[in-house]
Formats: sequence, structure tokens, C-alpha cells
Amino acid sequence: MKNLLTMEHVTKEEILDLIELAIEFKNGKKDTFTEQLYASNLFFENSTRTKLSFEMAERELGMKVIPFEVSTSSVQKGESLYDTCKTLEAIGVNALVIRHYEVEYYKELEELNIPVINGGDGSGQHPTQCLLDLMTIYQEFGYFEGLKVIIVGDIRHSRVAKSNALALKMLGADVKFVAPSIYTDQNVGDFVNFDDVIEEVDVCMLLRVQHERHKGDNLFKKEVYHEAYGLTLERYEKLKDRAIVMHPAPVNRGVEIADELVEAPKSRIFEQMTNGVHMRKAILKYIIEGK
Ligand code: CP
Repeated sequence: MKNLLTMEHVTKEEILDLIELAIEFKNGKKDTFTEQLYASNLFFENSTRTKLSFEMAERELGMKVIPFEVSTSSVQKGESLYDTCKTLEAIGVNALVIRHYEVEYYKELEELNIPVINGGDGSGQHPTQCLLDLMTIYQEFGYFEGLKVIIVGDIRHSRVAKSNALALKMLGADVKFVAPSIYTDQNVGDFVNFDDVIEEVDVCMLLRVQHERHKGDNLFKKEVYHEAYGLTLERYEKLKDRAIVMHPAPVNRGVEIADELVEAPKSRIFEQMTNGVHMRKAILKYIIEGK
């Protein structure tokens, strides 16, 4: 694995290896790089979790982080993404984490000699979120085959939905989707009614309504969306004892999930963030060491 760009390129064996390594890190494994390495995180879209957990992972592995801010860089003078990345490679950076609004922005970077990790490409893919989500599910159940997963929300605009649908199906999970018609994407799989499946699911994965990709239209009133497509207290009570609730965050409280459920016993939302640091350490190790 030279880069991590899309879950389409990641095999079942690689997923299970990465989960195993991430769990070792979570259990206290210390494994810094033997030589001084440098990473740079290029975020052309906003981020809290992905950017900061990569920075935490890089520092914990002994890497030095070379700061890069789009707003003060030569991107503002028209520098292309390729030239920015080629420059970072030329000055000695060893790995790039990139989030960009263009779907498949990474296609023009594949021939570079510096590893690229995709931190999200528009509404395309979010492979590192997917891998930390898979780790969270695996830690809970110990397997994927036959698990009933529903992915609920703004499927059409969600890169998390696309990466998770692909990977979970490859791992043998039974994945269904819930969304209002304006947020559906028939390419991902079968759509069902939330209330028809809530009592059967093992994993209820909620997605943020991505207002920033709706071209300014606020198509649902908060309360209307929550009643029809949100995890309400009533729906939460119907979940199986062993079911878990996930959300990649940031959360629109009171929209995708009732405010008081964000930290409810079945919620793994903050556990996902903790796992994100360990999974990102595993990904950096795996890619930089050329596994
Ligand atoms: N889940 C996720 O990608 O969060 P950020 O946008 O804060 O990185």
C-alpha cells in the first residue's frame, strides 16, 4: 500500500491487518519511527477530528508536523495542488494527508513519490473515517459477517456513507440505507424505512446533514428532519440491547440525533474519535513502511 486514497483499493486482509495494529496501539504499543520523518496535513475543507487526530498520530509516532494553511500558502496565488504537493516532496516531507473539495483530487497525485492519505475528497470517499468505524464495530462485535447495519441520513453527499457501504459489504455485513428522497443515492444499495428496521439492527450509523453541499438550500426544518430521519428517544428505546449508535461527527444535535443521546450508553461517537488516533497511527505506519 503506497497511498490510501479510496476503500476501493483496500483488501479485506489489509483492513483486518490495520484493525489489528490499531488495537495494539490502543492497548499501549509504542512504536515510533527509527529515523526523523516529517508529515504535512493539507486541509482545503474544514476539519476538527481528521486533522487533529492525524496530528496526534504523527506526533505519537515521532514525526514532526510541517504546518500548512491554505489561507496563507501560495494556493492563494494560484498554485496548483500538484505543485504544492511536489514542493512538499522536494523540501523533504515524507507523507501528506489531504482533504479537498474535489472528488478524486488525488488522481493527479498518484505518480508522486510521496505517500498521500486521503482525508476526504468532496462527496467521494473518506477511507480513514471508514477504517476507524470498522475498528469500532470490530471491537464491539469481533466480526462483520451478517451484522445488520443501517446508514441513515444525507447519503448522497456523504463520503463516509460511500466508503463504509463499500467496505462493510465486502466484509459480509448486511447494509441498508435510510434517507429522504432528496438525499438518496441508488448506487449505494437498498433504502428502507427507519421504523421498519430499528428493532433489528446491530449498528445504527447516523450521518450529518451536509448543509454546506446543499448550495444554500436548507431543505428541512430541524424538527421535521429529526422526527422522520433522526434517532429520537423513542427509536433509541427500540434498539436491541447490544446495538450501537455511531456518527462520524460533527453532530447536528437535535437533527440526526437527540441531544441527550449523543453520550447515551449505546453511543460510540466519542469512542470513534479515540479510535481515530490509533487507526491513523496504524495507517501511517503501514503506508510509510510500505506494507
Ligand atoms: N468525521 C470527520 O471527518 O470530522 P472532521 O470533519 O471534523 O474531520
